Amino acid sequence: MKYMGSKRSMLLNGLGEAIQSAVPGHKRFVDMFTGSAAVAWHVAQKYDVEVLAGDLQKYSVVLASSVIGRTKPLKRKWLEDWADRATTWEAASDFVGRTKRLQKRIATEDIKSTCDRARDLCAEMPYPISKAYGGYYFSPQQSLTIDALRATLPLNKDARCAALASLIWVASRCAAAPGHTAQSFKPNLTAGEFLKAAWQRDVGACLHQSYDAIAPMFSKRKGAATKTDANDMASTLKEGDIAFLDPPYSGVHYSRFYHVLETLVGGKLVAVSGEGRYPEIGKRPQSKYSLVKSSEDAFEALLKSLASVGTDAIITFPAGEASNGLSGERVTELANQFFRIKSSKVTSRFSTLGGNSRNRDARQPSEEMILTLTAR
Ligand SMILES: C[S@@+](CC[C@H](N)C(=O)[O-])C[C@H]1O[C@@H](n2cnc3c(N)ncnc32)[C@H](O)[C@@H]1O
Repeated sequence: MKYMGSKRSMLLNGLGEAIQSAVPGHKRFVDMFTGSAAVAWHVAQKYDVEVLAGDLQKYSVVLASSVIGRTKPLKRKWLEDWADRATTWEAASDFVGRTKRLQKRIATEDIKSTCDRARDLCAEMPYPISKAYGGYYFSPQQSLTIDALRATLPLNKDARCAALASLIWVASRCAAAPGHTAQSFKPNLTAGEFLKAAWQRDVGACLHQSYDAIAPMFSKRKGAATKTDANDMASTLKEGDIAFLDPPYSGVHYSRFYHVLETLVGGKLVAVSGEGRYPEIGKRPQSKYSLVKSSEDAFEALLKSLASVGTDAIITFPAGEASNGLSGERVTELANQFFRIKSSKVTSRFSTLGGNSRNRDARQPSEEMILTLTAR
């Protein structure tokens, strides 16, 4: 999926090695800011340790649980039966005829007028994704299919979780937006072509790809993911645990970029506004780590709490200055107060933080620090 700060590529570029050296001798690996869950999945599949994960956002918890909470692969039959149920649900919708007709216009007709009609149509639709995001991040046909899939998830716990995680990937991959869902492509001369291309992505094909990637993965040991603040989670850790800390480095809350995924997981109608289609700020998780005035205190308290019970840690953080007021240097100083720094290295990763480009996945190379810490 498109995820700001995903450590997926870094697992092949330094982070995987750091984890390999640090994990032996620990009973639990705790990914405290799990995000796309790339690191929790990696560790759970590869090592015989219990993996726990936490994040403020519900969709991250679903992503993490879909693999760390399961010790067997899932059959494809779950997907096939689910897709059949969704097709029946969609066919019974009062809106299916109009969404299909509008979908046919996307390739050939003026995108501005198609977009206006799409927004009018979706405003009438009583389904969470269509009503909030149809005509913006998704065509009416795409949003109806996503709503149908959300309404007909498998009932079996593991299959339901993997199905919802697959649907999160679908929404992320199909969204008509550059990198993340802070703003959708506009139907104008510069971005109109990107909007058209995104609105023609095949949700069904993308679902099959996503499920076929997630369902075969499973953990060596059953773990669990929780929607929680990392500083609260820290009080549940102990000696023998190793915490993975990849906190926000942006001065903008993550929830601003991923509200579409959060609404999808919530499965309820939400009131949204503006071009970005955000729910009101009080309805989006706010992080102390994304505020310049509190990020340092929050991180210091977290490190202190982990060190006080003898938990080891791995930290990743941008090597330079970050927009939430922290920096690689300051993070190292804070870590040094409470832990022995066993190793420190700098590697490259790609970030979407500079992502203001409308027409490409605005990925910027940058330097990232990896600190391996042992309790003093
Ligand atoms: C840099 S991202 C983590 C990326 C993740 N390691 C990956 O590979 O995708 C930071 C994450 O921390 C979460 N977050 C922010 N504040 C938090 C807090 N106080 N407690 C737990 N999670 C938090 C955000 O929602 C976001 O998912």
